[in-house]
Amino acid sequence: MRPRHFLTLNDLDRNELDFVLRRAGELKRLQHQGVPHESLRGKVLGMVFEKSSTRTRVSFEAGMAQLGGNAIFLSPRDSQLGRGEPVEDTARVLSRMLDVVMIRTFAHETLERFAAYSQVPVINGLSDDHHPCQLLADIQAFQEHRGGLAGRTVAWVGDGNNMCNSYMEAAGIFDFQLNVACPEGFDPDQTLLQANTERVRIVRDPREAVAGASLVTTDVWASMGQEEEQAERERAFAGYQVTRELMNLAADDAVFLHCLPAHRGEEVAADVIDGEQSIVWDQAENRLHAQKALLEFLLLAETSPRTLQA
Ligand code: CP
Ligand code: NVA
Repeated sequence: MRPRHFLTLNDLDRNELDFVLRRAGELKRLQHQGVPHESLRGKVLGMVFEKSSTRTRVSFEAGMAQLGGNAIFLSPRDSQLGRGEPVEDTARVLSRMLDVVMIRTFAHETLERFAAYSQVPVINGLSDDHHPCQLLADIQAFQEHRGGLAGRTVAWVGDGNNMCNSYMEAAGIFDFQLNVACPEGFDPDQTLLQANTERVRIVRDPREAVAGASLVTTDVWASMGQEEEQAERERAFAGYQVTRELMNLAADDAVFLHCLPAHRGEEVAADVIDGEQSIVWDQAENRLHAQKALLEFLLLAETSPRTLQA
């Protein structure tokens, strides 16, 4: 049987995502109450990081420990990947030893090539084009504070990057209107945009994007791998900072999200991310719970669906 992968949000259907999100809430309660929940005892996750990480690494590693399993950290610097061993060979070898693999990389195609040769589930821990694990945490956080996203308006302000692409997919799946405010030349992926034209609108004015929005979110102006474009991007994104004034144009009960790490004074003003509407710390914590639920789903759902009945 071919393993299920989670390379983009669309790899799970709406029912499956709802299931994972419900289970994430249960796992959060169990964790907070100190109730053991070792459903993945004996399972091993391999984590390949070709880019830096704080949240993704710690949430996956801590999550596997809490589920009774283990995680192994690998990077190109200290594995044969960095010395040119083909991704396809690495996938075939690792997947004979591990139960699941998480990869953070540059080209999304690397993940697809790895997954094509892997006997075990592969999870996208961020690529240049997608960050689906972050979306699980974002949606969980919004649901905890405001309920469902269906019929709501979400404003993305800033770069049309990997996070923005995953928000576009989420808009189609969870049935919300996504207004993307980005400068010309920094639009999100055109194919995903075309696939979600009924749900996604590109505007140039952040004020237009946030009007009536229940959720306002942004991300860094220069993503990992774009460090040399920092100065140019600071110029291009001037006027795209999420400020208190901008938040005041959103819905009265709007919340603010940011996948982190954040740059106060660039994409977001300090009084927004540190202010009352910000739920970024719950969002960050939810990486742990949502990914534990995802790991359970990918490792257990196919073999013992009854274990996972909500
Ligand atoms: N949001 C996120 O993925 O954070 P890290 O880069 O720290 O993993
Ligand atoms: N867009 C950012 C997200 C970091 C979690 C990046 O790719 O660097």
